[in-house]
Amino acid sequence: MSAKADHPNHHMTSPSLNLPAANVETVWRYGRTAIVLHWTLAVLLTFMIGLGWYMMSIEREAGSAWYFNLHKSVGLVIALLVAVGVAWRSGHRPESLPVSVPRWQARLAFVTQTLLYALMVLMPVTGYLGASHSKAGVQLFGLPTPRWAVPDHDRAEQFYNIHSVLVWVLVALVVLHVAGALKHLLWDKDGVFQRMWFRSGS
Ligand code: HEM
Ligand code: HEM
Repeated sequence: MSAKADHPNHHMTSPSLNLPAANVETVWRYGRTAIVLHWTLAVLLTFMIGLGWYMMSIEREAGSAWYFNLHKSVGLVIALLVAVGVAWRSGHRPESLPVSVPRWQARLAFVTQTLLYALMVLMPVTGYLGASHSKAGVQLFGLPTPRWAVPDHDRAEQFYNIHSVLVWVLVALVVLHVAGALKHLLWDKDGVFQRMWFRSGS
């Protein structure tokens, strides 16, 4: 790590050395499907966190129902994309991180990414369970979805409380994850960020 910082101009030297610029060209990358799913989910999740907080701030105003319904609908789309992603991922294991990544950082990345998956499942599930016990119920872009629970305000609130607390866990994980990704891009320059970035024709 420090060796790289000490030799920022070594990018044209032997490709057999694990040097930054050489890695960016030769490093293993995620496939197109994984990359498109990753960035679609990253955008949708960020949007949903903002939308969730915004709609709570206008909860009692006329017209807020539109935002709640949009939130529920996009949340269900996210659940579907996560299910597709997990299925895809189970058949497409990524290669390990380059050996230049210290062991504790690789472990931290693994734990963070695993917890991100857990939160991407738990957020829609708790939101859906809460909404299913609410009077408003769940519509998917205006289409009613099956009602299987009797409206129960306290029940709904219990799920919403979990939903509202978990979002902070999600935010903390995203901050850590993005900080790690940007560290690879700007500081380590080891091609790890590029593993998840688009390239023409990939
Ligand atoms: C990854 C997906 C989701 C994210 C990131 C997310 C995020 C949020 C956030 C940030 C809030 C505001 C919490 C607060 O300030 O108290 C919220 C509230 C809410 N979410 Fe979600 N949500 C997701 C999925 C869903 C789904 C799938 C549904 C329902 C089908 C849903 C239904 C709700 C409802 C009804 C509220 C208002 C809760 C209340 O009245 O206390 N969410 N969500
Ligand atoms: C809501 C936001 C995000 C979520 C939930 C998320 C989630 C994930 C998950 C679960 C993985 C592991 C993929 C797998 O192995 O199956 C991953 C990988 C990755 N993410 Fe994100 N991500 C988010 C945002 C970002 C952002 C904004 C960046 C860049 C600034 C980023 C950069 C990366 C990179 C570079 C990898 C690949 C790491 C590797 O080489 O293994 N992610 N992300």
